[in-house]
Amino acid sequence: MSSTSQELHDNIVAHDLTKSFGAVRAVRGLDLSLQRGSTVALLGPNGAGKTTTIDMLIGLTKPDAGTVSLFGRTPSEAVKAGMIGAMTQTGQLIDYLTVHELVTMMAAIYPAPLDVEEALRISGADEFADRQTRKLSGGETQRVRFAIALVADAELLVLDEPTVALDVEGRRDFWSAMRAFTARGKTVVFATHYLEEADAYADRIVLMSRGRIVADGAPTEIKATVGGRIIRATLPDVELLALHALPGVTMVDRKGDAITLNCSNSDVTLRELLSTYPTVRDIEVRGAGLEEAFLELTVDDEAP
Ligand SMILES: Nc1ncnc2c1ncn2[C@@H]1O[C@H](COP(=O)(O)OP(=O)(O)O)[C@@H](O)[C@H]1O
Ligand SMILES: [Mg+2]
Repeated sequence: MSSTSQELHDNIVAHDLTKSFGAVRAVRGLDLSLQRGSTVALLGPNGAGKTTTIDMLIGLTKPDAGTVSLFGRTPSEAVKAGMIGAMTQTGQLIDYLTVHELVTMMAAIYPAPLDVEEALRISGADEFADRQTRKLSGGETQRVRFAIALVADAELLVLDEPTVALDVEGRRDFWSAMRAFTARGKTVVFATHYLEEADAYADRIVLMSRGRIVADGAPTEIKATVGGRIIRATLPDVELLALHALPGVTMVDRKGDAITLNCSNSDVTLRELLSTYPTVRDIEVRGAGLEEAFLELTVDDEAP
């Protein structure tokens, strides 16, 4: 991969990022280029390597191999320059401080922080600003983490499963606050294992499984790949291309006489399948859950 210096300056570029923990190959040769101002979701099931990737992007974890450039700087340079606000999955809040004290302390680290009261208000942590951090619920802790990420007023916001401890309403509030904040042209990278969340809030979804990128594109493209339904049936002597040409089909596979069609609109596909191939039998239709879709996408990816 070659990048011009202008691209490096404008983008977040990871090249061949690799990290193992003992025998576990958490991230395997990841290449990624993210545009300034975009909101990108790293989507994948637990263990896919999202946290490891994020932690390498922001310099919390040192890669075994590969490089990261954040707007032309190394992660540690970018962190020192106050260009990164992060909400990580690991690490506890400092004990025996109130929420207000903690966020104020974090604000002091940054060259041009957001007003503390504003960060508390946007995150909703103002409701319990005087409480000690060790007395917070899971959802409240998430809001404080969010306030800490916001107070940096950084160029890049990195959020690792930011809504994981929140209920549906909390999630909605979180993202509307986020949207209001990022409308000012911030770059956002967030990890999630909810397809709906990635779909609703990202311009681009990078789908990860087992340490690799298995799909990358606009939410509509990714949804067509993993969010639809799957038709399985027995149908001898049919060309893969002909199956591909059926309406509503996004992906086709065949093992012997058994065909598998990933569909964005399985109703339309099924009608056409039955009328075009009257001999088709053993038809099954089911939802393609995320986990399952990941398995489908990575079924031949067992190599060590
Ligand atoms: N510090 C660690 N020590 C050992 N294994 C780890 C460590 N961190 C992550 N892993 C392993 O690396 C893989 C990727 O983990 P992670 O990046 O946390 O995935 P995700 O965030 O997508 O759930 C998993 O198999 C996980 O068990
Ligand atoms: Mg994680």
